[in-house]
Amino acid sequence: MKRVFLDHNATTFPSKDVVKAITDFKDWGNPSSIHSSGRRARSKILQAKREIAKILGVSPGELSFTSGGSESNNSVIRGLVNRLISKGSTHIISSRSEHPSVYKTLTHIQESFPDIKVHYCPIDYKKGLDYNFLEETLKNNPVGLVSLMAANNETGEIYDIKKIRFLIEKHTLKSRRTYLHSDMVQTLGKMPFDIKDLGVDFASFSAHKFYALQGVGVLYHKKGSGFEPLITGGGQERGRRAGTENLMAIHAMGLQFNALKNLDSKLKEIESLRDYMETKIKSSIDRVMILASDRKRLCNTSLILIDSAHGETLLMNLDLMGFDVSTGAACSSGNPEPSPVLRALGLSLKEASESLRVSLGWSTTKEDIDSFVEHLVKVVEKIRSI
Ligand SMILES: Cc1ncc(COP(=O)(O)O)c(C=O)c1O
Repeated sequence: MKRVFLDHNATTFPSKDVVKAITDFKDWGNPSSIHSSGRRARSKILQAKREIAKILGVSPGELSFTSGGSESNNSVIRGLVNRLISKGSTHIISSRSEHPSVYKTLTHIQESFPDIKVHYCPIDYKKGLDYNFLEETLKNNPVGLVSLMAANNETGEIYDIKKIRFLIEKHTLKSRRTYLHSDMVQTLGKMPFDIKDLGVDFASFSAHKFYALQGVGVLYHKKGSGFEPLITGGGQERGRRAGTENLMAIHAMGLQFNALKNLDSKLKEIESLRDYMETKIKSSIDRVMILASDRKRLCNTSLILIDSAHGETLLMNLDLMGFDVSTGAACSSGNPEPSPVLRALGLSLKEASESLRVSLGWSTTKEDIDSFVEHLVKVVEKIRSI
């Protein structure tokens, strides 16, 4: 049976170029060793960093390799805490619909550092992000850090990071520095952006979300935006992240960044396929709602609420028929509770448990979508009839 993978926000399969790069890889060595093998390995790391920097439009010194999105997010947030306390900028703004690597980290920080106060910006599934709340909080508190994602992994909604930077500039005293961190893990390969234009101080990226390997990522830190390292030890990454580099995965990620060039027509193609799927679902199944469909969304993501069809039951039935979809963030799978992100967006327990996330990829075809919708219709009919 051919499987149809429609869970690309959870992970992606390594591209052909990535598979070839790791199969052919021969430059083994510890990049910190000074002999020839070590120097060859180091040159691979530097080359990957130069390639990534060029594509992101930043300087190589503004990038550090990490193990992925979770570590990048933790590094920024945990690495800034002492500085925020010492400067008296002890207020942080974030939201409850962030990925757990941001949300749980902030919860932990608030418990461990009583001086820190976290304000959670409301994001409603009908109205989107509450920029007024953000503005008022910035106006009335010494805010040292704003951490808000660029695109939500569950709904695909895109937030206006440039506007957030504008509001920070408008309301922050010249004498205070308010850092802007964005978890941009879901953006690569799904939307164009200009990191300098967004005005972020820090941005987190993960390789396995754009057809490279799991267990590697990159953290952007704008020049002059220092932070204490999360992992201390050797002097790798100029002391920002200790530990022998994940050489082969970094090399593959560097190559894969090149695949992000000239993606515009591909992204349009995916978007029209996603829209075609949503139209087909809405015309074949009654009592269906697509979240954030009237706002800016990632081209590949569809969060579908299907009344009287439990998400887990849908997922298991579709799985048996050869379709991989999700009911929410993959990290919460195995947990019978509906996604806390969807609850934070204001969905009732019932609505959140009747959700299905479909995320298309670069190789998804119209045949995949036709077949998926056909099976979804049958499964919903079956579940509703029981
Ligand atoms: C928005 C977002 N941030 C962070 C992460 C974590 O990335 P990683 O799996 O590389 O730790 C994910 C992965 O699901 C994500 O979707």
